[in-house]
Amino acid sequence: MPTVLITGANRGIGLEFARQYSSGGWHVIATARQPNAELDALGVTVELLDLADPDAVAAFHRKIEAPLDLLIANAGTNQPMNGDTAEDARAWQAMMMINAIAPYVLARSLLPRLADAEGKAIAISSGMGSIGDIGPGWVPYRTSKAALNMAWASLALEARPRSVPCVLLSPGWVKTRMGGSGAQITAEQSVADMRALIDRLTIEDSGKFMRRNGSEIPW
Ligand SMILES: NC(=O)c1ccc[n+]([C@@H]2O[C@H](COP(=O)([O-])OP(=O)(O)OC[C@H]3O[C@@H](n4cnc5c(N)ncnc54)[C@H](OP(=O)(O)O)[C@@H]3O)[C@@H](O)[C@H]2O)c1
Repeated sequence: MPTVLITGANRGIGLEFARQYSSGGWHVIATARQPNAELDALGVTVELLDLADPDAVAAFHRKIEAPLDLLIANAGTNQPMNGDTAEDARAWQAMMMINAIAPYVLARSLLPRLADAEGKAIAISSGMGSIGDIGPGWVPYRTSKAALNMAWASLALEARPRSVPCVLLSPGWVKTRMGGSGAQITAEQSVADMRALIDRLTIEDSGKFMRRNGSEIPW
């Protein structure tokens, strides 16, 4: 039975990944900040992890002893919206940890377990992290996803000797708490598309930043 580790799996896109991989027969290790009834109902393995906590993030790999077929670094925040005040600046610092630094530290420490399974490392980025396709507003979020993109592209280089593909995916504009009810697609559709793409990824795709249909996004 293949194993997938999904961060931020208690709601939104992460919960939908947990649902779909679990019903597809995978062993799902789902991380959340708090115990969660919906994850318990799925019968998946739940591990508590706050990505804002550097000690917890750096130590987490010790909990994963078996080969890991797939890591989905999904957890993320879009707050603060702006960088105007000292309070915004503090929240922006925390966001950089949650959205960019923690995914990299976690993935790097799990590379041996991923290599054991010839596994793949996926980060859920965003088109808003693209400098080549920049738009207005949401500057903290854009910078955090651009930083995630650089960290994951660097991870791809580091993971190449172990043949672990490291790929950044944009899920589209998805109806979740973050995406809002006016978003274009459901989490079910986004995750189904991303799962199909993840299945097809090879080492040749490592270091790419892709839409869920597999087309590449400008950096
Ligand atoms: N929805 C969209 O349209 C869209 C578009 C592009 C990219 N994305 C990306 O897709 C990913 C999932 O987003 P979503 O739409 O599913 O958002 P969501 O419904 O807001 O879910 C965010 C998830 O991240 C977790 N999280 C936030 N801060 C955390 C922390 N400090 N430690 C651990 N977990 C934390 C949340 O846990 P709590 O419940 O504990 O807060 C929750 O599980 C994110 O990386 C997001 O940037 C989303």
